[in-house]
Formats: sequence, structure tokens, C-alpha cells
Amino acid sequence: MIDKDMQQKLITAAKLATKNSYAPYSNFRVGAAILTSNDKIFTGVNIENRSYGLTVCAERNAVAKMIDDGEKEIKAAAIFAADSQVPIPPCGACRQVLSEFGSNIEIFYSCNEEEITATTISNLLPEDSLFELKKR
Ligand code: THU
Repeated sequence: MIDKDMQQKLITAAKLATKNSYAPYSNFRVGAAILTSNDKIFTGVNIENRSYGLTVCAERNAVAKMIDDGEKEIKAAAIFAADSQVPIPPCGACRQVLSEFGSNIEIFYSCNEEEITATTISNLLPEDSLFELKKR
């Protein structure tokens, strides 16, 4: 279980990351912070494109940085939606990608740093697509 201090730390890291979000099309800045099994934190932001479908979410960009640094196991991920009135959980694609790197990942999300919603990847993705193919 991730304690409250670490939840807050991850949400704050995700919030700080949103300053580098590239979201000129939606004006919806998102930041993500991933905590790995080695207690390293990696952030990511959404990167949009004028060819809209090529947009990549904050969560998947954080995963890319984590893998690039040699980490493979996610303990927790936090998502901060800077321009939202409501907290937003990871999208379907990001749920699938996060789930590749941990079975019991804790997920925290917020839009104001004060109220943090907590859940798990198994709650968000109850039927693990292609679980038989997963390499651990
Ligand atoms: N977005 C994320 O970065 N993560 C999510 O989980 C949901 C959506 C981004 C994609 C796009 O740049 C903007 O939010 C609006 O959909």
C-alpha cells in the first residue's frame, strides 16, 4: 500500500509536470507520475499533434521514460488533470499499457491536489486482455 505522503508526492510531481504538457489543440494539460518497484519516480505529459490521432497521453509518455531508464515494474501511477473540474482516471489505452508492468498497480488521480481518488489497475481493467500472453 502506498501511504498518504507518497500519494501526495506523486500527485504533486504529476501536477508540476503539466507545465511541460504540449496540448495546444485540446488545452487540456495532463501530467502523470509513475513510482517503480525501485522507488524511482518518472513523470510524463500529454503530447498532442496537428494530426489529432497521433496524440500520446501523459501516462504512456511516463512509461516510455521509465522503460528507457531500465525500470520494468510499476508500483503506482498518479494522474493530474490541470484544466479539469473533475479528476480523470487513465484512458483505456493507458490502462492496458500500465497493466503490462505490474499486476497490482495503485492508481491515484486528482485535478486540484486536495482530493485524491485512489483505485487499482485491476479495478480499472478487470478483464485483463491477452493476460495469457503476458511475460513477467
Ligand atoms: N489525456 C491524457 O494525457 N491522459 C488520459 O488518461 C486521458 C487523456 C490527454 C490526451 C489529450 O491530449 C487530452 O488529454 C484530451 O483528451
